Amino acid sequence: MPSPDPGNSWFGSLRILRFRRFELSPTRRRLRRGVSVADLRKIARRRLPRGVFDYIDGGAEDEITMRSNIQAFRDVTFKPRVLRDMSEVDTSSSLLGRPIPFPLVLAPTGFTRIADPAGELAVARAAGRAGIPYSLSTLGTRSIEEVAAAGPADLWFQLYVFKDRGLVMDLIDRASASGYEALCVTVDTAMLGKRERDVRRGFTLPPKLGLSTIFDGIVHPAWTWKFVTSDPIVFANLTGRTVGDGSEAISLGEYFSTGLDSGLDWEDIEWLRDRWAGPLVLKGIQTVADAVIAADRGVDAIALSNHGGRQLDSAPAPLGLLPRVADAVGGRTEIICDGGVRRGSDIVKALALGATACMAGRAYLYGLGAAGETGVDHVLDILASDMRRTMALIGCPTVKELDREYVDLGRGDRRL
Ligand code: FNR
Ligand code: LAC
Repeated sequence: MPSPDPGNSWFGSLRILRFRRFELSPTRRRLRRGVSVADLRKIARRRLPRGVFDYIDGGAEDEITMRSNIQAFRDVTFKPRVLRDMSEVDTSSSLLGRPIPFPLVLAPTGFTRIADPAGELAVARAAGRAGIPYSLSTLGTRSIEEVAAAGPADLWFQLYVFKDRGLVMDLIDRASASGYEALCVTVDTAMLGKRERDVRRGFTLPPKLGLSTIFDGIVHPAWTWKFVTSDPIVFANLTGRTVGDGSEAISLGEYFSTGLDSGLDWEDIEWLRDRWAGPLVLKGIQTVADAVIAADRGVDAIALSNHGGRQLDSAPAPLGLLPRVADAVGGRTEIICDGGVRRGSDIVKALALGATACMAGRAYLYGLGAAGETGVDHVLDILASDMRRTMALIGCPTVKELDREYVDLGRGDRRL
């Protein structure tokens, strides 16, 4: 009797299947599905209460600027060169006089602990592991000192200028004493933008309990459990200050109007310049004219930024401004392109158009909301490996050699 041919039997065909090992960790199982930042956004959207997700994800008014920040990157295509030796690709560069393994800064985001209670400490540790700087927001939910103690990241402190200049001086002194490298002053917030998703919901920080938030909490039990079992979420840099630390639920709009100095001008920047010994970065520059003033005043870096489309709607996309700003002030001040970065190829496009580095906010918040600290590591791995792969595929082995020859402004050209 002939022996059964294993190749023909049902049993035989099973032998040629290769089963994927079952991943025991739910976080890692989730991250397997998070192949891109867009995937992580979707996962975060499912895991976070709707109000929290919308605070992170949303922008001002019609969200025209928020969308155009992303679209501007999509409109630029590459002019790839081939048959160049790409056996060594080096994504490293330098920013504010320091080496950086790939030119990305994690942007300041207020209230980070609503995405995950590990919040700013998790993001700072992930930045430290990746070797890139992290900017702590004035409205952070861990303090200047706690974040400095968390790990080896290069830290920047993002300053909102309060009317109370004693408080401003104090924040600067604390950042300096804790070894923060740069002071990043945000200048696009004369008032808070109208984020209509938040207004519609009556969203406060921390989220106030009402019928809809209780329902939101019940359908997102993992988030709710972490929220109620961890330290209360407050503006940790501002506890005990008259401006309030958010332990009473506040609307951010009111907080900005009462506490922040809407009279801020270039003289105040000089005042800050005199008081901060390290590099000074202005975040929120949106025209060539202001970029020139900043460079003339000796600012070390400008972040072309519209706050991720959360402030003035119909503000220009930072990527679109880059070529003209680089022509006007390149070499005199470093230029950071902030807003819309979702892929490592976006960083490559910005560098080719004259940026020294990029900043990203939502990208890491989606990672944090999707899978906590591991999620942030995951996003940084995606962006760094995207960047390396893109450089290899366009035929440019070093950051220094990236220039406009590698990009085609396409549809964007007419707008720039
Ligand atoms: C921000 N941003 C911000 N900027 C700032 O200077 N201080 C802050 O406290 C905050 N807070 C904040 C919270 C959240 C939830 C988001 C999404 C953003 C703006 C941030 O630093 C950066 O400019 C944008 O996030 C850049 O756009 P992308 O990368 O999110 O597209
Ligand atoms: C924001 C503030 C905190 O964009 O800057 O929500």
